[in-house]
Amino acid sequence: MDQEVKEHYIRAGEVIQKARKKAREVSEPDTNLKVIAEEIEALIRSEGLEPAFPVNISINDAAAHYTPGVKEKQVLKEDNVVKIDIGAHSEGYIADTALTINPSGRKQEMVDEVESVLEAALEFIEPGKTVGEVGSFINRQVSDEYQVVRNLTGHYLGKYEQHAGVSIPNIPNNSDHVLEEGDAFAIEPFLTDGSGKIKNGADGNIYKMENDRNVRGRTERKLLKQIKEFNGLPFTTRWLDDYGARERMAMKKLVQADIVHSYPVLNEVNSGTVVQAEHTVILTEDGKKVTTRP
Ligand code: CO
Repeated sequence: MDQEVKEHYIRAGEVIQKARKKAREVSEPDTNLKVIAEEIEALIRSEGLEPAFPVNISINDAAAHYTPGVKEKQVLKEDNVVKIDIGAHSEGYIADTALTINPSGRKQEMVDEVESVLEAALEFIEPGKTVGEVGSFINRQVSDEYQVVRNLTGHYLGKYEQHAGVSIPNIPNNSDHVLEEGDAFAIEPFLTDGSGKIKNGADGNIYKMENDRNVRGRTERKLLKQIKEFNGLPFTTRWLDDYGARERMAMKKLVQADIVHSYPVLNEVNSGTVVQAEHTVILTEDGKKVTTRP
């Protein structure tokens, strides 16, 4: 791995470690979800980096892809099981991490298990292993009590690319893609006491530029100009200037014209509770390094 690239990955990881601490501090019951997301995003910016995607705050049977809206009303409840997924990038090189917060402790055994499954996977990974072997290994670590969410995966990272082509499933699969020195990727198992599958739900306030086309309309052009600043990484309406009714209409048009993609929230099909743990790994000439933990 190029020295400069490695330094960017490590820098992004250091900031994300602070962001994880902040996430635990601010996730107090009765706190508005927008406050939680914005405190974490503000910490990343105060360190001179940018979020690689909006902070995802996904509650109970929502596995991923919800970020608080401009006028968010939901507050964190004592009995919520909350996945907080956080990314930061340094010049496009991303650190991606997630943790599960469970104020009441009601799903703590499942949270502990997903964390130890992730730890075992991070231990197992090394250059020369295939993605297929990693998936089978992760799956073997899970007790009979829980299901792995089969259609959510870890993923390779690239410059300004949060999902750089290769997925890293948490179940047996036939990928013979070999892990190599120079690679960067996120490992992220999800466990559930439901069926082990997720489906698309409502819009989650997360968007991504899809196709660069000319648009008509002043508001559409104004939005697109700001959207281009995200360099193809996911963004949210909270990050756009003066986002009101006019802008909402314009965004709808951008989505309909396939210029912008809108991500739906991912919900467990049997409404099971979902827990998640995630860290980012780089494979360097001096071995593997988990960038997002000390
Ligand atoms: Co990820």
